[in-house]
Amino acid sequence: MSGHFPLLFYFSLFLMLTMGYQKWMSKGQGYLNNARGKEGEQRIGLLKRSMKCYRRALSKSPPDTKNFIRTRIRSIKGQIDYLKYKKKKTHSSNNEENDMDQFIVKDKTNVSFKDIGGLQHAKQYLRDRLIAPLDHPSLAKKFGKRPVNGLLAYGPPGTGKTMLAKAAATESKEASLIQITPSDILNKFLGESEDKVRKIFELAIDKAPSIIIFDELESIATDRNLASANKRSIVNQLLTEISELNSHGKDQLPVLLIGTTNNPILLDSALLRSGRLSDRLYIGPPGREGRREIIQQGLEQKKEVLKGNIDIDTLLDLTAGYTGAEVVGDMDRVFNRGFRNSVENDGNVRKVGMDDFLEVFKRDRTLAVDIWRSEMKANLDNNPKDYPWLREVI
Ligand SMILES: Nc1ncnc2c1ncn2[C@@H]1O[C@H](COP(=O)(O)OP(=O)(O)OP(=O)(O)O)[C@@H](O)[C@H]1O
Ligand SMILES: [Mg+2]
Repeated sequence: MSGHFPLLFYFSLFLMLTMGYQKWMSKGQGYLNNARGKEGEQRIGLLKRSMKCYRRALSKSPPDTKNFIRTRIRSIKGQIDYLKYKKKKTHSSNNEENDMDQFIVKDKTNVSFKDIGGLQHAKQYLRDRLIAPLDHPSLAKKFGKRPVNGLLAYGPPGTGKTMLAKAAATESKEASLIQITPSDILNKFLGESEDKVRKIFELAIDKAPSIIIFDELESIATDRNLASANKRSIVNQLLTEISELNSHGKDQLPVLLIGTTNNPILLDSALLRSGRLSDRLYIGPPGREGRREIIQQGLEQKKEVLKGNIDIDTLLDLTAGYTGAEVVGDMDRVFNRGFRNSVENDGNVRKVGMDDFLEVFKRDRTLAVDIWRSEMKANLDNNPKDYPWLREVI
């Protein structure tokens, strides 16, 4: 009897192991059937369960069925991998779209021409050459008026170039605004910046009519003779995109470019040729009446904390030659004094008056516009190329 024991043992072990492999297989088949017609996560979940069942079946199955089960497992795994890959791809392309969407300025309404003091010539130019043809395309066609291809707004820092470009897009009822700063494009990975440039134009075409503002353009489209290899290819890509845009004709694809810079000498000159950023607009300090508008607006907004009479003409005398940013900066400083004192004074409002203005507005600094002019002069003297339009304003 004891001689039969090993045989009996192995037989029952075999029975235990094989028992149920068919049950697992039919369970697996059930999940597989269920997965049919389902999508996404749900399908992946059912396929995974099915695979688990088949794996159990495999471990229990007799040798002659193993191959069949293995093939089935491989097929299920293939389906799961494919579904995961598809999911990842649509997810990443959605992300990419969202990534690009961040460049569309959705709150473009928060700055308009009325917020900008002075610069009447620039506003008029933008109305005539950019906004009206964009908003009234068929009328513009009848009168042979095409929107400007591209425009370079140049001038000293803080004169409102960025603000003006943004406001122009806001004034247009039709145009989407895409605002790009150098850090959006410049990337240490070779090839990625060009890719960004390409996608920006794709986005602009998709959202046309649109205006792309390239802020601080000299950092993006640096003269190729001075630029690194990486930057050279960005300029090339930019030029390619602009030519492509032009070859489609502005009527089909109204995508307008505005570049802003305070150092046009650093720009690649190919960018300034006809058909590209061929129009130039100097944006300088706002002038006496422009400053008056800026100061009046600032006073109006904070009239609750003003005391006594503010003699605006004196302030205008004190700020002759100031850029918009310098005027706004001084106004801020005045109200900061009042705010600080009020906080120190347990929240009791300390109003600001003409004495605060005189304290802050005393002229003790070199004007931004003078610094800019002398820098441009020095740059031009060392440059073989001539920039008559720049010489005109320095
Ligand atoms: N004409 C203006 N009217 C009202 N505010 C102005 C004007 N010019 C400049 N400012 C103020 O200065 C700030 C800076 O302006 P902005 O950034 O448009 O200048 P910029 O010319 O683009 O300067 P940068 O060359 O340094 O880029 C604005 O947010 C605004 O507060
Ligand atoms: Mg700017």
